[in-house]
Amino acid sequence: MAQDNFERLISDIPPLGRFPRAELFSSPTTLEPLKNLSKKLGVNLYIKRDDTLPLAMGGNKVRQLEYYLGEAITQKADTILITGSVQSNFVRLCAAAARKFEMRPIVQLEERVSNINIEYNRSGNVLLLKMLGAKIVYFSEGENETQADANLNIIANKLRKDGAKPYIIHLGIGHRPLGALGYAAAAVEAIQQATELKLEIDHVVLPTGSALTHSGFLAGVSILKYPATIHGICVRRDSSLQTERVLRRTNEVGQLLGYSSLIGTDAVITDDTCLPPGYGQMNGYVAEAIKMSAIEEGIIVDPVYSGKALAGLIHLIRSGTIPQGQNVLFLHTGGAPANFGYQSELERL
Ligand SMILES: Cc1ncc(COP(=O)(O)O)c(C=O)c1O
Repeated sequence: MAQDNFERLISDIPPLGRFPRAELFSSPTTLEPLKNLSKKLGVNLYIKRDDTLPLAMGGNKVRQLEYYLGEAITQKADTILITGSVQSNFVRLCAAAARKFEMRPIVQLEERVSNINIEYNRSGNVLLLKMLGAKIVYFSEGENETQADANLNIIANKLRKDGAKPYIIHLGIGHRPLGALGYAAAAVEAIQQATELKLEIDHVVLPTGSALTHSGFLAGVSILKYPATIHGICVRRDSSLQTERVLRRTNEVGQLLGYSSLIGTDAVITDDTCLPPGYGQMNGYVAEAIKMSAIEEGIIVDPVYSGKALAGLIHLIRSGTIPQGQNVLFLHTGGAPANFGYQSELERL
């Protein structure tokens, strides 16, 4: 981020400036109204376009990677390891960020979604990984994040024996949520933009998976005491497991930033109505959201993350949880490249 923009952000949360960042973008993402969807849904809907962050087709993980890569550079790493699902946007962006800083990307793809379509296994993010020259290893016990992380440790130990300096991005609970700092900064950015627009945001809706986005954003909003309600739409775990995770993660982010106990359970709101049948799988709500945002606004969301989050937002409005007439911010976290992995299903929309 350009110094002046980042200075603006850390003036509101100074401890953010203590963490090394590898700069991957230099200006705020757009925050703008969505007029057609607002009319259709009966709220004042705004969007924050984190899908347009400028690295290898963008997305929320760019903000998170600034902090992981920042630490990797400090440790003089020459290789970056990460794990994720076959159509993971995080591993795609990690490979791109590693290339930018002249490190070797090694990515572990977890077979989490039972999908034997050739496009799911070869197109979309998988194709981009190949173009980025990432070394790909496959891991079949994909739903167990502790084992997935442990397998990265085994690979890293072998690399160390060969003289390499690997840095592992661990995503499992129990490891510091460093990447969430990027979303504490994003919350400051969004609040500054809303203030400039004289807009008071009542609700923010975002996808919640590893919870780095949700917990970082919630930490930022809580530190600034901004009164918006933050709704996390579950993309991987049910609401009770995810609430527990976000509570823990947000307080860990708070601790990184010098707050001993930043939030209580009341601050964590999650909704899993649009999750079934499970991670990375379509349903009628998601299909409607993908179609609605393309047709009404020309904006592309995906079946795994941003489409599920938008489906959740529509559900929260229709169920009255978000009342008519409120100011609602949708955080578009990206994920569009995964659409090419779901071609057969999307062609039928
Ligand atoms: C496009 C996109 N949106 C949202 C998420 C979920 O964010 P988080 O893992 O920070 O909860 C991801 C995670 O990979 C993603 O790729």
